Amino acid sequence: MRKNFKAKPILYPQPVFIIASYDENGNADAMNAAWGGIADADKIFMCIGSHKSTENILARRAFTVSMGSAEQVVACDYVGIVSASNEPEKMKKSGFHTTKSEHVDAPLIDELPLALECKLISYDPETGYMFGEIVNISVDERILDENDHILPERLRPIIFDGANASYHVIGEKVGNAFCDGAALK
Ligand SMILES: Cc1cc2nc3c(=O)[nH]c(=O)nc-3n(C[C@H](O)[C@H](O)[C@H](O)COP(=O)(O)O)c2cc1C
Repeated sequence: MRKNFKAKPILYPQPVFIIASYDENGNADAMNAAWGGIADADKIFMCIGSHKSTENILARRAFTVSMGSAEQVVACDYVGIVSASNEPEKMKKSGFHTTKSEHVDAPLIDELPLALECKLISYDPETGYMFGEIVNISVDERILDENDHILPERLRPIIFDGANASYHVIGEKVGNAFCDGAALK
């Protein structure tokens, strides 16, 4: 027996993306965003409403997208519930530190080790649909192995559970992609 939950934005996993941008004075801002994902090999899609970050991105035509991590869950939630429009000390209070990206006019968050550096392609204020071009991905060495492979167990990315308003850390490896299904061919 299945139960119907009507039309709601619930799926698993939903990302915890931390979108960072610079305002008109060069101050960094960051927001939490769950509604987004890869849109093409070099493009990312986000659905973002009217926020200070949105203004910043439209002005600078650039942003970075970091993966929220278990280590930084409090700061990741904080930037999603407080706006820089109301709290000028938002970034300081979050505890996040930033460094300017070498590739786009946007900040990287030092505490979050994996970030997509993006140039704005388009934003539609009616729908909130935003597309960005991924021009670089930068990864802190501390989550890489000796062959520069990303170690998810060091990144400890979190997901947003929209049904229960909670965050969960991504768990253990259970299979090999493009491979395990071949057993059923
Ligand atoms: C778990 C979570 C997910 C969120 N997802 C989105 C989203 O996908 N799109 C959006 O526009 N806002 C989303 N928000 C809200 C923004 O992060 C929030 O309004 C933020 O304070 C905006 O900050 P700013 O005004 O400084 O840019 C989310 C917040 C949380 C806590």
